[in-house]
Amino acid sequence: MTAGGLAPAKAGAVEFEAKITPIVILSCIMAATGGLMFGYDVGVSGGVTAMPDFLEKFFPDVYGKTQDPNLNSNYCKYDNQSLQMFTSSLYLAGLVATFFASWTTRNLGRKPTMLIAGVFFLVGVVINAAAQDLAMLIVGRVLLGCGVGFANQAVPLFLSEIAPTRIRGGLNILFQLNVTIGILFANLVNYGTAKIKGGWGWRLSLGLAGFPAILLTAGALLVLETPNSLIERDRLDEGKTVLRKIRGTDNIEPEFLEIVEASRMSKEVKHPFRNLLKRRNWPQLAITVAMQIFQQFTGINAIMFYAPVLFDTVGFGSDASLYSAVIIGAVNVVSTGVSIYSVDKVGRRMLLLEAGVQMFFAQVVIAIILGIKVKDNSSDLHRGFGILVVLMVCTFVSAFAWSWGPLGWLIPSETFPLETRSAGQSVTVCVNLIFTFVMAQAFLSMLCTLKYGIFLFFSAWVLIMSIFVVFLLPETKNIPIEEMTERVWKKHWFWKRFMDDNQEVAAPGTKADHSLKNGHSNGLDPASQL
Ligand code: BGC
Repeated sequence: MTAGGLAPAKAGAVEFEAKITPIVILSCIMAATGGLMFGYDVGVSGGVTAMPDFLEKFFPDVYGKTQDPNLNSNYCKYDNQSLQMFTSSLYLAGLVATFFASWTTRNLGRKPTMLIAGVFFLVGVVINAAAQDLAMLIVGRVLLGCGVGFANQAVPLFLSEIAPTRIRGGLNILFQLNVTIGILFANLVNYGTAKIKGGWGWRLSLGLAGFPAILLTAGALLVLETPNSLIERDRLDEGKTVLRKIRGTDNIEPEFLEIVEASRMSKEVKHPFRNLLKRRNWPQLAITVAMQIFQQFTGINAIMFYAPVLFDTVGFGSDASLYSAVIIGAVNVVSTGVSIYSVDKVGRRMLLLEAGVQMFFAQVVIAIILGIKVKDNSSDLHRGFGILVVLMVCTFVSAFAWSWGPLGWLIPSETFPLETRSAGQSVTVCVNLIFTFVMAQAFLSMLCTLKYGIFLFFSAWVLIMSIFVVFLLPETKNIPIEEMTERVWKKHWFWKRFMDDNQEVAAPGTKADHSLKNGHSNGLDPASQL
């Protein structure tokens, strides 16, 4: 790949010299707080929705239904479009925002994009906590959604670019770790505020989102810009200085040259989104879109958004429902740690495949218990079965937390070449938010129609996505980010067929050109991708 100067090959992979410096770790911790905000928004809506005061003020129809057990089927009491709109409006706004965020990440940098996100969050939180009517509530959610669009665009890219290759996976997952901490924090807050008498507990729940919002804004002011983004914007000297600082060595020339080269190719691309549709980018695009759709079709957000509502539906009391949501939130955080530890060791594919088996099993068991025990107008889920359902939900959530949760964000952020990385990340965020929106908007209605069968529906999807991983998802562990095209896509048994027009962008004598001629190999056996 790059001529000379590389550290010794390790397990078939080539690495640039890089120490794990405190500044890298600190920058990553600060940037990752963008995930806290996303997680808090995911977690908070289900909890406030289960609070009678909140329902009575904003959704009197639903409130009426929850108060009259004879009026409706257990499975249908929360089936209300405007209630679902409260949850889902955030994701709709976020997906529009990502297109603006793509422009800002590429032209202004990763750091200012995070700052923009922080400001949106702060304003959204204030409006939400002060909401007097449904309109204010939705406007607040829309602004939070814009924040999510900007943050989810910039943060994963920032982390993947600033991290040394060998711990890139682990550092990137800090984003997801923060998402899960945000969800847990929201669950804990809801558990506490639900006990507040006087009808303002929900305001506190929505207002405390200000805490992660402030952290992100402050973090965005303090972090360094990534060398990749500086070099992409022709600030070569600054890029080199930052690279030296974050890698903790003077021997940064090989990595610097590789980023310069990636950036040169990136500049030839005048229309990143149009370029994304070129045949040679189809593999990354297909993987990105599939990863996001699959992530949402695991059914995770049915649990994350609506766990309290779901537990209430199957007959837990209101307190037990919020309490169970806290347990699940904690399992989510701890299991994400497993991923941070193992992703750069066992690899991405292994985690996804193991989790597929575990999620499938848990969902089928949940469907069977609910099918037998929860009828439309009676739910006799005794204590033992109740505990079993919570256990199975924990089994499912833990598997998600070390697989599709973090890897849904990691893999797309590390597979695109610099030329299409921002545009690719926009597609990632956008598809994620579209399907998160679909889940938020549809789940309570699907629960009403499919009843316990909803969990069989998700388990079928888990089966499909696991087959996809077996055949079509290449391993990206330990591959430097600017070498993915050469070392992953051009070597994959299926995707390599889309790579033949890559000569177009490889000027004579460049690295890419050189590698094409030599059929440079990374030591990865394509057959092992199967
Ligand atoms: C997903 C969210 C989900 C969260 C759960 C994230 O990776 O994108 O939709 O709520 O994981 O931990």
